[in-house]
Amino acid sequence: MKRQIQGVKACVFDAYGTLFDFSSAAHRCSSVPEEKRDGLTALWRDKQLQYTWLRTLQGRYIDFWQITGDALDYALESLGLFDPKVHSDLMDLYLNLSAFPEVLGTLRQLREAGFVTAILSNGTPQMLNAAVTNAGLDSVLDFVLSADDVKVYKTHPRVYEYALEQLDLRPEQVSFQSSNSWDAYAASDFGMHVVWCNRYEQKPEHLPGSPDAVVRSLDQLIDIIEPIPD
Ligand code: LAC
Repeated sequence: MKRQIQGVKACVFDAYGTLFDFSSAAHRCSSVPEEKRDGLTALWRDKQLQYTWLRTLQGRYIDFWQITGDALDYALESLGLFDPKVHSDLMDLYLNLSAFPEVLGTLRQLREAGFVTAILSNGTPQMLNAAVTNAGLDSVLDFVLSADDVKVYKTHPRVYEYALEQLDLRPEQVSFQSSNSWDAYAASDFGMHVVWCNRYEQKPEHLPGSPDAVVRSLDQLIDIIEPIPD
């Protein structure tokens, strides 16, 4: 049986929320009261993303590590939790996020099937390398690509274009996987194949783009994406 997405050379992944579980930072932080961890995770993430979009619109780039710190300050202040020690504990934990359980096995399987594997993320190279090493993914990733090299954030088309330049591929030779619906729709609008990993059971977006497939977890990819034979 033919798989749904054909002619793919590279499987490219978003990082935060897709490969790495950003909620693991607050959940492993003993200085944050248990009942506040979910709220902190959600507010921290929302502000982090808003700051990437706003700063890209304004042409006021700072790197994702600084954005993550600024968003954390906002979230801690809002929840009455601000303390420099809590801030630094959470930032350290953000460098060592857990990978979702199926990630290592899926990346290994995709590489064995002949795909090039890559990350394309807003994260700085230092943040991404720390997360990749901590999760033991070094040997199953061919490229770790950061928006920091182009100084704008997703969903600016320059970020997706940068990945194609680095991989030396056309958009239709890439399958991009993201759990962030806005990222999935934008990569699809850019011309890549897209699998939206809808881990959080969100409703479809009303935005340009249309993901080729929707899955709940990345281990379904191998049944959906067909490599180009050598
Ligand atoms: C990333 C964020 C957006 O990894 O999840 O680019």
